Amino acid sequence: MSGHILPPLLIPLLKRLSDGRFHSGQDMARFFQVSRATIFNLLQTAEQHGVRIHAVRGKGYRLAERLSWLDSGELQALLSASGHGYAIKTVEETYSTNSLLTQDALAGAAHRTVLYADYQHAGRGRRGREWQSPLGGGLAFSVLWRFERGMDQLSGLSIAVGLALARALAARCPLPIKLKWPNDVLAGYRKLAGILVEVQGELSGPSFAVIGIGVNEHLPSLHRREIDQAVVDLDEMGVQLSRAELLHAILSELAHTMALFEQEGVRPILAEWPHWHAHEGRAVLLRTPDGHRHAGTASGLDDAGNLLLTLASGEVRKFTAGEVSLRPAAAK
Ligand code: BTN
Repeated sequence: MSGHILPPLLIPLLKRLSDGRFHSGQDMARFFQVSRATIFNLLQTAEQHGVRIHAVRGKGYRLAERLSWLDSGELQALLSASGHGYAIKTVEETYSTNSLLTQDALAGAAHRTVLYADYQHAGRGRRGREWQSPLGGGLAFSVLWRFERGMDQLSGLSIAVGLALARALAARCPLPIKLKWPNDVLAGYRKLAGILVEVQGELSGPSFAVIGIGVNEHLPSLHRREIDQAVVDLDEMGVQLSRAELLHAILSELAHTMALFEQEGVRPILAEWPHWHAHEGRAVLLRTPDGHRHAGTASGLDDAGNLLLTLASGEVRKFTAGEVSLRPAAAK
């Protein structure tokens, strides 16, 4: 499950092309000490990954659209000014930052380790889904949070992370930011970011959470076609943030939320939920993992972050997992 799935030189080549200028095949071949045919093949592979490249006779190659990469120096400068105590580890490529950081955690990685990857070739979403992280088009990282308390004391954590991410993005996006339970971040009711929180440890402590976050920055049409829901990205909204600024903004909100979570528990954090919930008070359908559909009105959360639905009978029922959608009549 480790190693490169992309050809090893592809990301360095795309980073070199990311200055927006033309580069001749010959110059790039000389720089990377490979043949021009290798450069040509790498560029073709990039195009198969949705990267659009302009080739102009006599000038060379140029990226047709901006790609984003992390400037580690910029991130370190932002982080040392804000002093949140994160330790940043960056890798060019991995299968999934959540999986790799979980391995690192089991091998003793420090509390607040952040694992950032330029590219994930097997990014994971919730409920066993894939998470598409296009090359240079999606921020993907995971944060290790260690707790003295046990796993049974971590309920509501994934909602808390959703609220932190929503706050960070709402301060920077022109479209209204909302959460779809439990923690999908929507902008203008389309999915902008996703969260996968995985916890391990002893029931009575200690325990740890690997908090994985993916944000759509620029989704090529190739990737959009493979995603089975309405999506939006930062570029489309005209949001121009460097990756370091975006990552720093999210890590800062996360640090504040986690401090509150550790000191006061999840309750004060959950108090914000109705403000952010895309479906609060609306008629929804919840499809539970067993395939059943439940119609009701979204009526907030309980203290553990479970969704409360008021059913037609008036009964208020709690749900621990499922996929929420607006009921068609209510969607009009
Ligand atoms: C979802 O909305 O289904 C959750 C998506 C979570 C994606 C992030 S990207 C970084 C981290 N590594 C993964 O494999 N998944 C999470």
